[in-house]
Amino acid sequence: MYYVVSGTASKNVAENLAEELNAPIVNTISKRFPDDELYIRILDDLSGKDVIIVQTTYPDQNIIELFLLQNAVQEAKAKTITIVIPYFGYGRQDTKFQEGEAISAKAIAKLISLNADEIITVDPHKEHILKFFSKPAYSCTAVPAIASYLKTKNIDMILAPDKGAIERAKKAATVIKCKYDYMEKTRINGTTVEIKPKNLDAADKNIAIIDDIISTGGTMAESIKKLKKQNAKKIYVACTHGLFAGDAIKKLNSAGADEIISTDTIQSDFSKVKIAPTIAKIITTIKK
Ligand code: R5P
Repeated sequence: MYYVVSGTASKNVAENLAEELNAPIVNTISKRFPDDELYIRILDDLSGKDVIIVQTTYPDQNIIELFLLQNAVQEAKAKTITIVIPYFGYGRQDTKFQEGEAISAKAIAKLISLNADEIITVDPHKEHILKFFSKPAYSCTAVPAIASYLKTKNIDMILAPDKGAIERAKKAATVIKCKYDYMEKTRINGTTVEIKPKNLDAADKNIAIIDDIISTGGTMAESIKKLKKQNAKKIYVACTHGLFAGDAIKKLNSAGADEIISTDTIQSDFSKVKIAPTIAKIITTIKK
């Protein structure tokens, strides 16, 4: 039997996961000292228990909370510690794009591995980041769950915002049983992308664009504008991890998004798809 420890960044996912696995949620205290340092205490007896800690590593303070939870669970003498990271923050800095840069994904993964027996995450930006963990690390994908949500929307075509993400679009299109394609994206810098016009047979079609992350909304907003020019009917934008940084939502709405959909790896008003069943499935598969 598992015991689920919920980090404050992932309360919903932890509660849903506990329900899926028929596991109790561990009682904890998490509070801030006057100087804003974090205090963590585990209230239940976890000695000899298989423990799952659920915590998204975004934004930064949630990484510290995860480290403290890991330490508290280890100090409580748990038998095994499984770390579930619904959204692995810092995952996109996964290589040295320029000399002298930190490989942030590697730095965070190494530290998480210190107090863990295995790690599970959802739709990492690139799968190779799993190798940065020094303990067995697994990923699962939210795409089938997102596709199931989109099934009721009469989608004619699924689009990936760039060629590299075509497999994601294909996977969703297989569930929905519709066409799929990709857009031609060039990233100019952190906030600007260029989407080349490409004839996608979008006229009068209901289209869903699926990405792993919506951050500034730039990628999706540019894609929507190109599709609008091609007279698309309805445009749904969906992602696993809805960061919605700054005025992303405003950008998406003014570009003409008909609906914004995200999972709850990062909880927001757009978290319409629950990720816990997908995570429960991979935990059960690993343990077989
Ligand atoms: C990049 O390769 C990712 O898959 C997303 O397309 C990107 O993170 C989205 O960022 P933004 O919303 O800022 O355009």
